[in-house]
Amino acid sequence: MLAVTFRGAYAQIPVYLDETKPMEQRIEDALSRMTLDEKIALVHAQSKFSSPGIKRLGFPDFWTDDGPHGVRPDVLWDEWVQAGQTNDSCVAFPALTCLAATWNPSMARLYGESLGEEALYRGKSMILGPGVNIYRTPLGGRNFEYMGEDPLLASRMVVPYVQGLQSKGVAACVKHYALNNDEEYRHQVNVIVSDRALHEIYLPAFKAAITEGKAWGIMGAYNLYKNQHNSHNEILLNKILKEDWKFDGIVVSDWGGCHDTDEAVRNGLDLEMGTWTDGMVMNATNAYDRYYMALPYKQMIRQGKYTTAELDEKVRRLLRTFYRTTMRADRQVGFLCSESHYEAALKIAQEGIVLLKNEVVADPSKGKGAKSTVLPVDVKGMKRILVVGENAIKMMTVGGGSSSLKAQKEILPLDGLIAAVHAIQPNVEVDYARGYVGDTIQSFDGVTVGRSLYEMRSADELIREAVSKAAQADCVIMFGGLNKSDYQDCEGHDRKDMNLPYGQNELIEALVKANPRFVFVNISGNAVSMPWLSKVPAVVQGWFVGSESGEAIASVLTGQVNPSGKLPFTWYSKLEDCGAHALNAYPGVWREGHDIIDEEYKEDIYVGYRWTDRQKKNKPLFAFGHGLSYTTFQLGKISSDRQTMKADDEITFTVSVTNTGSKAGSEVVQLYISDIKSSLPRPVKELKGFSKVYLEAGETRDVSITIGRDALSYYDDSIQDWVAEPGAFEALIGTASDKIISKIRFILE
Ligand code: BGC
Repeated sequence: MLAVTFRGAYAQIPVYLDETKPMEQRIEDALSRMTLDEKIALVHAQSKFSSPGIKRLGFPDFWTDDGPHGVRPDVLWDEWVQAGQTNDSCVAFPALTCLAATWNPSMARLYGESLGEEALYRGKSMILGPGVNIYRTPLGGRNFEYMGEDPLLASRMVVPYVQGLQSKGVAACVKHYALNNDEEYRHQVNVIVSDRALHEIYLPAFKAAITEGKAWGIMGAYNLYKNQHNSHNEILLNKILKEDWKFDGIVVSDWGGCHDTDEAVRNGLDLEMGTWTDGMVMNATNAYDRYYMALPYKQMIRQGKYTTAELDEKVRRLLRTFYRTTMRADRQVGFLCSESHYEAALKIAQEGIVLLKNEVVADPSKGKGAKSTVLPVDVKGMKRILVVGENAIKMMTVGGGSSSLKAQKEILPLDGLIAAVHAIQPNVEVDYARGYVGDTIQSFDGVTVGRSLYEMRSADELIREAVSKAAQADCVIMFGGLNKSDYQDCEGHDRKDMNLPYGQNELIEALVKANPRFVFVNISGNAVSMPWLSKVPAVVQGWFVGSESGEAIASVLTGQVNPSGKLPFTWYSKLEDCGAHALNAYPGVWREGHDIIDEEYKEDIYVGYRWTDRQKKNKPLFAFGHGLSYTTFQLGKISSDRQTMKADDEITFTVSVTNTGSKAGSEVVQLYISDIKSSLPRPVKELKGFSKVYLEAGETRDVSITIGRDALSYYDDSIQDWVAEPGAFEALIGTASDKIISKIRFILE
């Protein structure tokens, strides 16, 4: 009797709720039950970060949130300012430039999984990230949110991030698709770029995220391409994304990126978010109804301009996203601020921090004439360490625009260093001098910074104090660089130049003169010019590393962790050494009326090291892929498993790597391919594979990297396709783009 009742109840489950049915069947069933109003409601926002589900059918509302370094604090329903809740703090993971600098895809997987668990707990179904816009100029205000200059590196790192995040049932929204490579005038920039550069440089990471990572969402960028906004761009969305890459998820507009109902309907936009409500209709009772994809769309359908065909297609994609996220039977609750997330943040930071320079310098503590590197700091032999700089005491998780977070904890560099030093030797004094005043702003969107940065003293007084303390110290560590304020590493604008701000150059010169045992830790997501570099023995790139900042940086400085990060971009010595600037191809040329600024990517495919290699002059301060260690590695001679290959074959290169120093550590073996003779001009070399290998002191291992036709192909504009042209190639193996150790020729038949 009981069994009959159950069977009866089971039989009544509608197909769209029946988990035993294929997803596509459930989607069609749900779609067939929906009214026009319900469909229209689905394709646009109802609040700053949410869009409605289908309440009548039991589909919950869809909550998105930034992204990409942690889960943004909740904001008020229709305001950007944080809602002031007490349960929305998060773990801040390292900024994506740091993740890219790990050159370790398993770190990206860990990142995605950890973030996914935080998002679940916070009730978010989509994280607005990761960002993979290519680092085209060191001025780019949001470079810190992206994965560097190289399409292959960014591709290999974005895929596991997306997979890790989505393994938790939280959708990724890869951004900002596409060509949003600088912030200045981002709503008005019309990018002009060759098809070849588009496909070889700017699209590969997006393509990998979609076709390999199977991302469920993508964000249309603010800027224009071929005079059409990218949130409803026919070529980027209909043709490339949906037709060529077979993307089956949702295109979300960047917040306010939708400008036209007609284009949005036809050109692939699925969810309109953030249209500037007040700008559209001041004082409207429900301004969301006025969105381009709200009442105006409904009206067009009513008037017969459109059938529901386009709308149904958008709704299908949204329903698919619901089944992948909110409607999953196995949806987990997640964890917030758990120990494992802090551990992940720490590990990623420690692997991403880059030792840029570490040269020997006089070491008076070891006797007359003695010399040693300043790093790792030899705490045991010291009495006093001086820390200088605002960035030693400034929270960097607050500010920078939409990626700003409310971190449950952020260990500041000074605190982290004090703890690390005292754990080694409790009686070493760690003194502090401010040195310079940068930005003392104490809050962003209502999230306040912990420590007061208020300072009354003049610049001269601050330098004097720092210099006199420096002369008394065994070593000096300065934390400087940029911060998350406007016109620095911050959304909305680019930097105005490459210089270190706030008089830091003068301070550095004075400090290193006072004490040659000087370390500069640069906190930023971008390269800065270093006119003093030849005088400074040690430089560390500390990025923005989030919650565990202080602990992570201190562990590298004190040698608890052997650095293994490698630069994901070329560190030019001056702006003019970067292609976009050398060719005066930034920020573009205003059209009459100042509505649109045309930015032509004149450097074409020659971005980053591709440009530097081609110029053969103006060596960068630090090359793409550069990063030192406290140990030394030696690479053997490269060998390959074949001398000739056909386009459908694969070829494997092998090299032995030996840790020739006395400390365990990791090295990144980098494989570049050079096309010896080609119908189209090609870069001198291009990264086509890499592998990070951990070796104990004295250990040797063989590292193998396999490539196929993709690694040999170029994009030919004239036939709009990839071509693997037969001929001779060279495989170059090394540990940085300017440190090629050996090479081998092979033939593509
Ligand atoms: C940013 C996006 C962000 C969105 C929501 C926009 O201004 O460009 O990256 O996800 O705001 O905060």
